[in-house]
Amino acid sequence: MLNITYPIFQAPMAGGITTPELISETSNCGGLGNLGAGYMDPKEIKEAIKQIRSLTDKPFGVNLFIPNVREVHFDEKELTAMTVLLNQYGQELGIEVPVSNQVNNYKALYENQLEEVLRERVPVASFTFGIPDREVMTELRKNGTVIIGTATNVKEALELEVSGVDIIVAQGSEAGGHRGTFHEEASGLVGSMALIPQVADAVYTPIVAAGGIMDTRGIAAAMALGATGVQLGTAFLTCKESGAAEIYKKTLLNSTEEQTTFTKAFSGKLARGIGNRFIHEMAEQTSLPFPLQNDLTASIRKKAAMLKQPDFMSLWAGQGVRMVKETTVKQLMRELIEGK
Ligand SMILES: Cc1cc2nc3c(=O)[nH]c(=O)nc-3n(C[C@H](O)[C@H](O)[C@H](O)COP(=O)(O)O)c2cc1C
Repeated sequence: MLNITYPIFQAPMAGGITTPELISETSNCGGLGNLGAGYMDPKEIKEAIKQIRSLTDKPFGVNLFIPNVREVHFDEKELTAMTVLLNQYGQELGIEVPVSNQVNNYKALYENQLEEVLRERVPVASFTFGIPDREVMTELRKNGTVIIGTATNVKEALELEVSGVDIIVAQGSEAGGHRGTFHEEASGLVGSMALIPQVADAVYTPIVAAGGIMDTRGIAAAMALGATGVQLGTAFLTCKESGAAEIYKKTLLNSTEEQTTFTKAFSGKLARGIGNRFIHEMAEQTSLPFPLQNDLTASIRKKAAMLKQPDFMSLWAGQGVRMVKETTVKQLMRELIEGK
């Protein structure tokens, strides 16, 4: 279906991590590189695709966030309280977190991103946080684009199957980064070992397993449980070609499995990352909804990255983090394909 040699996906990872080099090198090695385009504007997507195409003639994917159809509700008092709180961290970093109740228009962004994805006739389009509309799927299909959805439990997988996606990524709770859950609080946080066989029993659509897979043992296990492919995020973060900040890579290389934790503090949406001062201190606070919390913490995360201050960065990572290595895509793919 995908015209790839090995069913190994480099996970889409938004936030500048999935560089054209990371993506093209994965695809050149016979896997599927994926652009995490969730936060990118159409111009950036266009430029990234141009670069990917200059580096590979193999298939690649583009990943988008399905915006929440409901309005983002928040209380003005909560917003002020959160801004005051975040400004304590802002002060430490020498910045001011502006008081803003302007939720960026993510629906408009998504629509513009989609237009670009359609214009570029990309080989693969994947989605998280929801299901693309029927019309969108029809347009993608006309271009011959393979459509991938993300599920975190059987209910979501069944809904994706009914919608007609070609492939379902089953994301276990070991996974680094945001949960792809779209029935917000009802995810169940199911781990890959339990999730993959239950999804495999429930749907006919091919499943790609994601969450905690770091090497051939993980791949073999996922296949034994009913997956036809695998998607790895954390393992690719420490590759030379990854756009993760050096301090982020260094932290991952020194982290262990018990250090990851779930938090909503950075974005308002549940995500797994390395526990740090920001996550621990914010644990008692109720975050504002996604994407408002994400917009509010953006300046803190950016400045912290500039100052190489991991205490205030979102260090997304999965539970397999002890197994990351300082490596290249070529070396990682060779190990994933051949074993050690
Ligand atoms: C830094 C980071 C960013 C991520 N961003 C996205 C994203 O933009 N879209 C998406 O569908 N999944 C995203 N994910 C989740 C991955 O697609 C995948 O489910 C996860 O990395 C698999 O678990 P692993 O990290 O244990 O390999 C992200 C994961 C990480 C670690």
